[in-house]
Amino acid sequence: MINLTILGATGSIGQSTLSVVNLHPEKFNVFAISAHTNWQQMLTICEQYQPTFAVMIDEAAAEQLSQAIPSDATTVLAGAKALETIAAHTDTDQVMAAIVGSAGMASSLAAAKAGKRIMLANKESLVLAGDIFMQAIKDNNAELIPVDSEHSAIFQCLQGGLSGLNKIQLTASGGPFLHTPLNALTNITPDQACAHPNWSMGRKISVDSATMMNKGLEVIEAHYLFDLSTDRIEVVMHPQSIIHSSVYFKDGSTLSQLGNPDMRTVIAYAMSYPNRINSGVPALDLTQHSPLEFYPPDFDKFACLRLAFEALKQGGNAMGTLNAANEVAVANFLNHNIKFLDIAKIIEKTLAMSRHFYPTCLDEVVNNDKIARLTANEVIQSYV
Ligand SMILES: NC(=O)c1ccc[n+]([C@@H]2O[C@H](COP(=O)([O-])OP(=O)(O)OC[C@H]3O[C@@H](n4cnc5c(N)ncnc54)[C@H](OP(=O)(O)O)[C@@H]3O)[C@@H](O)[C@H]2O)c1
Repeated sequence: MINLTILGATGSIGQSTLSVVNLHPEKFNVFAISAHTNWQQMLTICEQYQPTFAVMIDEAAAEQLSQAIPSDATTVLAGAKALETIAAHTDTDQVMAAIVGSAGMASSLAAAKAGKRIMLANKESLVLAGDIFMQAIKDNNAELIPVDSEHSAIFQCLQGGLSGLNKIQLTASGGPFLHTPLNALTNITPDQACAHPNWSMGRKISVDSATMMNKGLEVIEAHYLFDLSTDRIEVVMHPQSIIHSSVYFKDGSTLSQLGNPDMRTVIAYAMSYPNRINSGVPALDLTQHSPLEFYPPDFDKFACLRLAFEALKQGGNAMGTLNAANEVAVANFLNHNIKFLDIAKIIEKTLAMSRHFYPTCLDEVVNNDKIARLTANEVIQSYV
């Protein structure tokens, strides 16, 4: 029986993880779970799975969960430090790192330092602290399995080894503006930017998809996961999202991973690797998806993608600065303070105004994030 700790159990990835567990109750035991404030959903999960630990970040929510839990099978813990406790617990075998945002960094790092299998959905652990995180994985013989469809695809295609690898290619749907000319993007509203053709997602990630910053962050993730230089990572637009990514070898072979766009495939693979188990996702019917289209990315229109490549080339804190400036700019766009095309301009100016250095610990990463947000807010004043 594998003891599973799910960080972010109430979220979309957390829920999909539990649905895979439901298919294999003889293989996986839900050992510990966490959420931020949603104690009601945590109560439902506790009633069904009786985890040993349930962590609520919010103290008041922890108190409510604690009072509502009917059995004493589950110990309720409160606060961010408790995430690290369950991630590194000796009885934890696998950690699903599915907290959203920089709040997920410290617990991912704790799991790495404890030598766990980390199934990493939390992008920020790599985008903000990639060097520190990858070093901790290496130093502690931890196992890192990507939980993002593109990175899982590449991970799967590289199971034969890295011999003769030329480059990897991440696919991108292109979001709602794949075929919209640059000059038509000037007056795009938040609702238009959030109208993704394939997926219904949160508003921040929908805007990231429309600007292609989301793909830019994935390029940074790929750099750390596969230890590849920027010039060996490419992006191709593929609006059908059926090919999840590809790897190109020196002998002319290209391997791609295909599947229905459903995160349960990726999650089940991470949980069962190197074996495969049923994920509940139906088999792909290729005849239903033709034609499959591919286009090169337009780096003028999608300036955020260009900026992510540039930040990666710069290295160090530049990627954290890029991420912080993007979060501030997107929030201001969603509040109608700035225009869609201002997002990239604000990120570019923030990067130009920021001191470049190489963080050596999480405190420096967190501090850089704070300073970059202040700088981005200053830059925004000239746009509002
Ligand atoms: N969804 C996808 O298809 C997908 C695909 C690839 C990668 N990812 C990545 O996976 C991560 C999770 O995505 P998601 O879509 O599952 O997010 P989500 O649905 O928003 O869920 C986020 C989870 O994190 C918890 N949380 C929120 N703020 C927190 C904080 N400050 N401290 C601790 N926990 C906090 C939430 O708890 P409450 O419910 O209490 O707020 C919830 O359990 C993200 O980094 C995302 O980029 C997602």
